[in-house]
Amino acid sequence: MPEVNVTEHLLLNQKKMPVARGQFTHLLNQLILSFKIISREVTKAGLVDVLGFTGEVNVQGEEVKKLDEYANNVLIHRMSRAGVICAMSSEENEGIIDIPEGFPRGDYVLIFDPLDGSSNIEANINIGTIFSVYRRLSASDQPTSIEDVLQPGVEQVAAGYCLYGSSTMMVLTTGSGVHGFTLDPSVGEFLLSHPDIKIPERGGIYSINEGYTTYWDGATREVVEFFKDPEGNGSGAPYSSRYIGSLVADFHRTLLYGGIFLYPADMRDPKKPKGKLRLMSEANPLSFVVEQAWGLATDGVNRILDIAPTDLHQRVPLVIGSPYEVEKVRDIYRKHG
Ligand code: AHG
Ligand code: MN
Ligand code: MN
Ligand code: MN
Repeated sequence: MPEVNVTEHLLLNQKKMPVARGQFTHLLNQLILSFKIISREVTKAGLVDVLGFTGEVNVQGEEVKKLDEYANNVLIHRMSRAGVICAMSSEENEGIIDIPEGFPRGDYVLIFDPLDGSSNIEANINIGTIFSVYRRLSASDQPTSIEDVLQPGVEQVAAGYCLYGSSTMMVLTTGSGVHGFTLDPSVGEFLLSHPDIKIPERGGIYSINEGYTTYWDGATREVVEFFKDPEGNGSGAPYSSRYIGSLVADFHRTLLYGGIFLYPADMRDPKKPKGKLRLMSEANPLSFVVEQAWGLATDGVNRILDIAPTDLHQRVPLVIGSPYEVEKVRDIYRKHG
C-alpha cells in the first residue's frame, strides 16, 4: 500500500473538515513535529540527562519529572508560535498559557497533558502525550477568555494521543472516525498504519488499580467483583486484569483489544474525591476518541463529553471502553444510586 501520511489522510478522508483547513492542518503538523522531538528525547532517556526529578511540584501537587518539563516546554514553545492558536492549557501549568506578544493568534484552543504516565519513565514503560483541540468561542479580534478554554468535551474538533513505546504511534480523531499513524524513523513521517479503528463491542480485560480497594465505595467494589465472576459477567470466564499505570497505554490497549479501563472516585485523598484523572487534558480527549471508535466513556453514569467544566484542572472519575462493559458498570452504579 503506498504510504499515506497524516495530512494526505486528512484531505482524502475527512468528511467534516474543520473550518479554515489550512490553519488546522498547520496546527496538526506543528503538533506532529512536537511529538517527533519529544519521541527523540524519550528514546534517548537513560543516555542523556532527562531521567529523574526537577525538584519542582506542579499545580497537580505532583513532583515534576525532567521529561514532563521537557515535553511541556517543547509543546508550549512550538505551538504558541504556530500562529493558529489563541490559548493553551497544559496539565503542568496552573493558568491559561498565552500566546507571546508579536506572534499571530489563530482560531484554535489547545489543551494537553505533555507527558502522561511519568511515573513509568525510569522503567522504560510506555508513556505518551494527550491532546485536545477546540475552536475559540470569542471573535477572532477579541482577547481570549477562560470560556474559550472551558468548553464541554462534545465541542472538541480534534483529539488524540502520541504513544512513545516500541514504536511511536499517534492516534487521532477529527470527528470522522479514529485513525492510527506510526512514525517511520527512516522517512521521519507518521504513516497510516491503523485506519478506521473500532473498539470491540465487548472485551475480556478490565483495567483498574486494585491497590485502592480499601478506598472504593460499594458500587466500585461490586463492579470489580462483576468482572472477576465467570458466571456473573456472562462470559463463563473471569476477565483478565491488566494495569500499566500509564493512562495512555492502558487506554490504547483497551481501544485495540476491547474491555474497560476505570479510574474511579476514591476516598484516599479528601482533596481529590473525584479520583486522579483530569477532565480537560485526559478524560475529554480520550472520550472523544473512544466514542468515535464506537465505544463509551462515563464518570460511572454520565457521559464524559457532556460535563460542563468549571475548572481547568478539575478531576473526574473515568470509566471508558467497550459499550458492553461500560453499560454494565453504569447499571451497577445506577443500582447503588
Ligand atoms: P500523569 O503522568 O500525566 O500525571 O498521569 C498519570 C496518571 C495516568 O497516566 C495513570 O492512569 C494514573 O496516573 C495512574 O495512577 P495510579 O498510580 O494512582 O494508579
Ligand atoms: Mn503528572
Ligand atoms: Mn496524565
Ligand atoms: Mn502528565
